[in-house]
Amino acid sequence: MVVMFRRAALCLAFSAAFLATAVHAQQTTLLVDVDHRPQISLDGPWHSIPDPYREGWGSNPDHASPNGYAKNAHYVPGGPLVQYDFAKSPTLNVPGDWNSQKDSLFYYEGLLWYQRDFTVHPKPHTHLFIHFGSVNYAAQIFVNGQYVCNHEGGYTPFDCEITSIVKDGDNFIVAAVDDQRAVDRVPTLRMDWWNYGGITRPVSLVELPDTYIDDYSLQLKRGTQNQLEGYVHLIGAGPGTHVALNIPDLHIEKDAVTDTNGRAEFSFAAPGIELWSPEHPRLYVIALRAGSDDLKDDIGFRTVEVQGDQILLNGKPIFLRGISYHDEAPFRSGRSWSDKDVETLLGWARELHCNFVRMAHYPHTENETRLADKLGILAWEEIPVYWGIDWTNPHTLDVAKHQLWELIRRDHNDPSVILWSMSNETPESPERNAFIHQLAQQARSEDPTRLITSAIVTHFKGTTATLDDPLGQDLDVLGYNEYLGWYQGKPETIPDYTWQNPLGKPVIISEFGAGAKAGLHGPVTDMFTEEYQDNLYRQQLQMLGKMPFLRGMTPWVLMDFRSPMRQLPGIQDEYNRKGLVSDKGEKKKAFFTLQDYYAHKNE
Ligand code: GCU
Repeated sequence: MVVMFRRAALCLAFSAAFLATAVHAQQTTLLVDVDHRPQISLDGPWHSIPDPYREGWGSNPDHASPNGYAKNAHYVPGGPLVQYDFAKSPTLNVPGDWNSQKDSLFYYEGLLWYQRDFTVHPKPHTHLFIHFGSVNYAAQIFVNGQYVCNHEGGYTPFDCEITSIVKDGDNFIVAAVDDQRAVDRVPTLRMDWWNYGGITRPVSLVELPDTYIDDYSLQLKRGTQNQLEGYVHLIGAGPGTHVALNIPDLHIEKDAVTDTNGRAEFSFAAPGIELWSPEHPRLYVIALRAGSDDLKDDIGFRTVEVQGDQILLNGKPIFLRGISYHDEAPFRSGRSWSDKDVETLLGWARELHCNFVRMAHYPHTENETRLADKLGILAWEEIPVYWGIDWTNPHTLDVAKHQLWELIRRDHNDPSVILWSMSNETPESPERNAFIHQLAQQARSEDPTRLITSAIVTHFKGTTATLDDPLGQDLDVLGYNEYLGWYQGKPETIPDYTWQNPLGKPVIISEFGAGAKAGLHGPVTDMFTEEYQDNLYRQQLQMLGKMPFLRGMTPWVLMDFRSPMRQLPGIQDEYNRKGLVSDKGEKKKAFFTLQDYYAHKNE
């Protein structure tokens, strides 16, 4: 009985403290262009302990406690009572979600502990960081039994500095990962995708000199196509520190000095610059040097802007031949992360003759935007402000803002990215408008060179849609989702629908589609047959071809993806089947219909 009371008291202590933990400020940093820096990979097998009752926090969830799992104790016969032992616990591969690695964890949602040993020999006068590509959803990190940092947000990278904690030689890291959906989280309780939990993208150690480059930007000066401007920001540098910027292919070598904030500004002519475009994805190596820190990147230079209801790329109107997709791993399912995964997904987009992709509904893995840069595929990136968010909760807004900050900081030098999407299908209300207004303002301030959009639910009056959601005031490009012929109306009536665009802004139809089980054939009237899906695409394309202000489309969806909302046995089997390609790589009839349409789609 005593044990019971003590346990109850501990749980109460835990729940209050955990909530305190969950809201305390993000203790993380985010180094820019980390994937171009020398790294020590921490990928591979990590020991793991699922912890549905949150025992591992011990008595003090805020930081490592003597009886908490973060201490990485070992049970020794004859020794003190220890009721866990990472070294004897099963492993999970990092990166990778836990759901798709073990049947016993397929539906697991909650707290799970990871642990691994690592050896490092830090050089004097350096900073050592642990960099995570992403951890879904919340993470608390401990090194050598000491609390290091915490992070909330399941799809954006972060680093924790461990310089003062790490030892020369053997160390260990413990990560408490919690992917429990919650009303105040972003995304919130319901979403139409699988909540893959875990350390879902690569982890590495990054060692930097005392003075290092933590951020930079280099873009075409607005309104020019041969002037470059930007900045380099240093940590550990006083004013007057020299920063060198070289672009070998342009025979450009520039030097600038930092101000009192560690920021060096650049602005210079770049004659002969070749603009980046889908047809000519020209990337330039840029080399930055500050003190003993050297950093290289591959950057493309292009302009994107709105003129009336047109989208201009490098000053010319463009039609965005796109497709939406999740970061779902082809063939094996689970969270996508590897080069092979992203090469397959973007390879299918190219087969469709896409020049554009909608990376729905959250920031995708960084190597995907890097590959889009190389392939010349334009990208819409999005934070998971999805459906019914807790609009009036200050913590929720902080988390959404922080994810947006991390996404922009990670990808603001990627020429492929042209649109930052603030949300998807959020129910209209003054609170939602105010929440997303703040996000749009933040995005404009952090990156004035890209366009702001959102995906909004289309509401029809009879057969007419008027695209006048108040969110449009904050957007440069209006994204609208519609499911004519699937969730409403019959496919044969789709061409009768008309569209009004009172805001006069460019419109992207950011979702339309229908489900089909690959290989299921039958009358065109039977839902879930390939014929039904194909006919719906033909009817949709006929209607959309008549929309004068349509500047792009990203049909839903490239590939079937897992979702707990899709339970129809023998057809869905926990997959959303609106893919043009099945999860096993089978192309459905509608794939070829869209491919043919894009092959003949002029601007
Ligand atoms: C919604 C939503 C998607 C979802 C799709 C569907 O529009 O944006 O996330 O998967 O419809 O119902 O398949």
